[in-house]
Amino acid sequence: MCGIVGYTGKKSAAPILLNGLRRLEYRGYDSAGLALSTEAGIRVEKSEGKVAKLAEILGDYEETPGLGDALTGIAHTRWATHGPPTTINAHPHGACPPGGGEAPRVVLVHNGIIENYKTLKVLLEGEGRTLASETDTEVLAHLVDSYYEGDLQQAMTKALAKVTGTFGIVCMAKDEPGVLLVARRGSPIVIGLGEDETLVASDAAAILRHTRQVVYLDDNDIARIEGAEVEIRSLDTGPVTRHPTEIDWSDDAAEKGGYAHYMLKEIFEQPDAIWNTIRGRMDADRGNAVLSGLNLNPRDLADLRRVLVVGCGTSLHAGLVGEYAIEDFAGLPAEVEQAAEFRYRNPIVGARDLVLSISQSGETADTLAAVREAVDKGALVAGLVNVVGSTIARETGRGIYLHAGPEISVASTKAFTSQVSCLLMIALKFARAARMSRERGMQFVREIEAIPELVRSVLATNDAIAKVAERYAKAEHAFYLGRGYMYPVALEGALKLKEISYIHAEAFHAAELKHGSIALLTEEIPVVAIAPEGPGKEKTLSNVAECRARGSKVVLVATEGDEEVDGYGDDVLWIPECPLHTAVIPATVALQLFAYHVARVRGCSIDQPRNLAKSVTVE
Ligand code: F6R
Repeated sequence: MCGIVGYTGKKSAAPILLNGLRRLEYRGYDSAGLALSTEAGIRVEKSEGKVAKLAEILGDYEETPGLGDALTGIAHTRWATHGPPTTINAHPHGACPPGGGEAPRVVLVHNGIIENYKTLKVLLEGEGRTLASETDTEVLAHLVDSYYEGDLQQAMTKALAKVTGTFGIVCMAKDEPGVLLVARRGSPIVIGLGEDETLVASDAAAILRHTRQVVYLDDNDIARIEGAEVEIRSLDTGPVTRHPTEIDWSDDAAEKGGYAHYMLKEIFEQPDAIWNTIRGRMDADRGNAVLSGLNLNPRDLADLRRVLVVGCGTSLHAGLVGEYAIEDFAGLPAEVEQAAEFRYRNPIVGARDLVLSISQSGETADTLAAVREAVDKGALVAGLVNVVGSTIARETGRGIYLHAGPEISVASTKAFTSQVSCLLMIALKFARAARMSRERGMQFVREIEAIPELVRSVLATNDAIAKVAERYAKAEHAFYLGRGYMYPVALEGALKLKEISYIHAEAFHAAELKHGSIALLTEEIPVVAIAPEGPGKEKTLSNVAECRARGSKVVLVATEGDEEVDGYGDDVLWIPECPLHTAVIPATVALQLFAYHVARVRGCSIDQPRNLAKSVTVE
């Protein structure tokens, strides 16, 4: 979604802002812009399209007096919500009083949505102000300007008292050069602390090159920044202290490292990412998982009535694996639910329910809202989150960090396999507090610890998977089938294919297809069936036979050396032998590679698919 970068200090702001924007490109956007505080006033440059186009417009800015020597600025990548992705709707948006000329007095960038912008716009236009864009953000800029009397902090505080909705804002005023005003409600803002400088961003990836010492703003925080001085107040209670934390992701981790795409790099990082998730969390001797962040001892677990897993998209699919594993091994009722549905249907949850919220970014609006609903209803709430310091991580108070490293590709890969690994550890911990024996626990630990190697074996078949993918790259539809633990794999495999190749892919429970959807099946629609060794395999193979009888080509995901699958698939993606609950991971990796190569052959924009954003911070 939209990205924010801000800088104030002793260096030239423009290159820092442009580099920051490039680091945020992965989030998905459709226009970009920046504003620099120059001696002649605030200079704003915007463009529809990519950051490269904006850089072109700026030209040789480093050599241009008034541009290269500007030491303070703000920048933005916009993912259109209110109004199309045009230059005029791009941020920053500026405002000046009626009759105040063309040059802006106040300029800001904004993530989030101002819900009452229409009412505010009518009021501001009534005061003689002219708004040029269709955005809620320009309304916000005018609102701040309407209160401006030489003190940006006061103006912003008054303006935000009139606003309903969500925001992460960075603002500058012509008459206060060197000052950035930052505020947050519902949209993340991180402040990077440097020696003689301060950076601001919506995502730490934008500022990692400059500093790892960061402060996360809480909702309703407003910060005034001048050089290295940061003063934070709460809009509700006055001055507050927010302690700095150190980010442990290296700047290199956010680079492509020789791979053609971030997605491919992240697929190949999975053995390490999964190892980082499980490292130090397995007690081989006691056959248990050590998950201190959950803050639940066996007595607490004995009191639990049920586990509810909430998330969206890929995280939701991981949650479904969690539901199966927790019920399967711990005998504890578990349910998975789409986070927005959970939030709006007034769910029955209480003190003996554990709500596990799963989110790579930790910022997904629907998942965050589900967390808040569960907190309000008195449930125990824990987060499985990748981004350290993200809102869900902070608001749940208990949980497990995935430690999968930064996921830059919009399509999630390593976060999913780390989430599943984490959920298997949770199932183990809950099972050991219930009926699972130490011996079975010890075996379970070995099964989890074997996952990175299983993934390596699949990655070694990358070339073979690429060849298979080439044969299906012209398809316009595809069906995915799975049952049991392989049903979430089918959902995730189909999601990957549609996201990055734009092929219409649908996943079905293998048994469900014949209850209606098989009517759609033609020779033109390949079927991807996930049927590794284990319970349910024969039944899925029967469903495969039904598809082949209708002329469909079939790609099977099957266990190496399984001769029973001979004759069922036109092509086979092989995974190593392992129990079904861990086979989820190698099977998904095979389908990630399949989707990647199909999209590559089709020439798609793999890392930044159209219309998609990395973290979905709107409902
Ligand atoms: C798909 C994908 C999305 C996210 C979803 C939730 O590849 O990435 O479906 O999984 O938007 O995002 P998080 O996990 O950040 O809450």
